[in-house]
Parts: sequence; C-alpha cells; structure tokens
Amino acid sequence: MARAVADDPVVLAFVADHVAPGARRGRNPVLFLAATHDAVLARPDSALAAIYRGESDADPWPAFRALVDEAADEIAAHLATGAVQTNEVGRSAALVPALAAAADGDDRPVALVEIGPSGGLNLLLDRYRVEYLRDGEVVAAVGPTDSPVRLRSVLEGPDSPPFPVVVPPIASRTGIDPAPIDVTDPLRARWLRACLWPGVPDRPEALAAALGVAAVDPPALVRGDAVTDLAPLVAGLPADVLPVVVATWALAYVPADGRAAIAAALDGIGAARDLALVTYEDPRMTPWVPPVAPDVLAAADATPTVLGLRRWRSGAVTDRAMALGHPHARWLRWLG
Ligand SMILES: C[S@@+](CC[C@H](N)C(=O)[O-])C[C@H]1O[C@@H](n2cnc3c(N)ncnc32)[C@H](O)[C@@H]1O
Repeated sequence: MARAVADDPVVLAFVADHVAPGARRGRNPVLFLAATHDAVLARPDSALAAIYRGESDADPWPAFRALVDEAADEIAAHLATGAVQTNEVGRSAALVPALAAAADGDDRPVALVEIGPSGGLNLLLDRYRVEYLRDGEVVAAVGPTDSPVRLRSVLEGPDSPPFPVVVPPIASRTGIDPAPIDVTDPLRARWLRACLWPGVPDRPEALAAALGVAAVDPPALVRGDAVTDLAPLVAGLPADVLPVVVATWALAYVPADGRAAIAAALDGIGAARDLALVTYEDPRMTPWVPPVAPDVLAAADATPTVLGLRRWRSGAVTDRAMALGHPHARWLRWLG
C-alpha cells in the first residue's frame, strides 16, 4: 500500500496539504499509515478491516483509496496535529533485567521516571509475565504467572541475563511526555492500536492486554518536555527511593542538544544522590553507553537497539552496554 500511495498523486497531494507545517518529512508517511489504520479500526465491519485483520486476501488498495476519501476529515486531523506514539509493551522484556541491575545492591524501592512514555505501559513492567526463550524452550520467566500480558523474548548469542531476575519494589511511576496518552480514553487507546503495523502477530494482543492492566491503575503521566522538566522531577523525589530514569525509543525524538542537556542534568543530580539511567535506544542516541562491537551490531536483523545502564553510586559513574536487541525486544543478545 505504501508503494501504491507513492504512485497516487491525489493521495500524495492530500498528505502534503494536511501535514503540520514544518513537520519532519520522515514523520509523515508513518503518520499517514497510522491515521488510515485508525480510520480502519473505527470501521471494524468494513471489508478493509477484514483485510487488516488478516481475514481476507482481497486487494486492499481499492478499499484503502476509497477510505482516504470517506475518512478525509479524520485522517487530515491526525496529519495536522497527531504524532506516531507507538507504545511497544514488548520492550518491557529488555527493561526488566536492566531494572534489576539498576537496583542491584540497593535496598531502597525504585522511583521509575520514564522519558517519552506515550501511554506509560512500560512503566507497569513488573505486572507483566515475561518469558525468555532459547532454542524454542523457555529458559527463564519473570513476573506474575497470572498476568494477562504475556511477553516472549528470544535470547541470542552465548550469554544470558543473570537469572533469576529479581525486580525491585517500585514505589512510584511517572512519565514525562509532551503528548501523554490517557489509556482510559477509548479514542486514545485506539490510536495506540493504530500505531501498530497491521499483520504483525502478537503485538495487538499484548497491547490490548496491557491496556487492560493500565486501565485498573494507570501510571502518572506528566505533560512536559524531558529536556526541561525531567531534572526538577528527579531531584524532587524523596531521599528514601532510588530514582531510575528510563528511555525506550524516545531519545530519537529529542534534538541532539536536548539529549546532551538531559545527560548533563542527570550527571548533576547523580553527583549528589544515587541514580540510574536505563536506555533502550538506537546507540547513536546514547553516546555515553560503551560501544557494541561492529560485528555484533552488524548481525542485527533490524535497527540495532542497545540496552544501556548508567549508574551513579556515591558520586561515581559506571556505564554498561547490557544487550543488543530487536527494537521491540523480540530478541535480545546479552553482552557478557
Ligand atoms: C516512539 S514513542 C515511544 C514510546 C515509549 N517510550 C515506548 O517505547 O513504547 C516516543 C515518545 O517520545 C515522546 N517525546 C518526544 N519528544 C519528547 C520530549 N522532548 N520529552 C519527552 N518525551 C518526548 C513522544 O511524545 C512519544 O510519546
């Protein structure tokens, strides 16, 4: 469909006419596909919805083309003011062992603070059941056995996280996002579904289950910019908690000078109190994380994503590259 859109001057003109002025060009194709997906989800009885759900092999293009006309106002509204804010709950599989390492040797409960949480679903990582597989077998599992959220991550390479992974108690969960998503609002929850690519197995199910968990006790999401608002929030946390700042596929959306300002602000706080920063990001966004060997990076079958941990303890800083992984943590290659 992306190819068909590229060959249709009317659809291309529609997108160009409605995108926000000055928006990054790279934002628009994915935003358009998410906006049309949202219109499909709003019409679950349509022929196109059946194709998106994999229930029909019909050519999607005629129905897609008709939808762009029928839902023009809805799609245009997303193009003008929306943003792709995929909340990928699978990333919790990477965060769980990193959170355990962040709190290792510290008895205090953790205060989780997430940069760019979208709907905040990964702030609830300890409420999910995560299974780690090797050669098709589950070799370790973490989290409540009765959780409706079941995540699976395949371990690649010779090393594994240090099982059993002990997730520390979490005293508070806060996210800072310029456009936090209220997962209890059905239209916003639908937008999170729309941001998933149709046809990828397990993702919609995991998202739906996590939305159900979040609806019972949603995390606190603050509207703000991490560049200016993260440091005061972290510095203001009580002394009897260990702040752990988390960023997963969020720093790419922050300009380079903003990323540097966030790192510098955390360094300032870490000089005065114990602190940790867990990142699961394109490694170009986290220059403080030790580099992964080029041959290991080159073996990744998707945009390489590196799990980094920076810890400040009694003013001393240590950095680790813990794992290389799939952007959605479908696989993890533990780094020794
Ligand atoms: C691709 S989503 C990733 C969401 C979530 N971290 C995950 O992994 O599922 C990127 C998020 O970063 C947020 N974001 C963009 N700029 C930001 C900033 N300056 N401060 C905080 N969050 C920001 C966006 O609003 C969006 O919700």
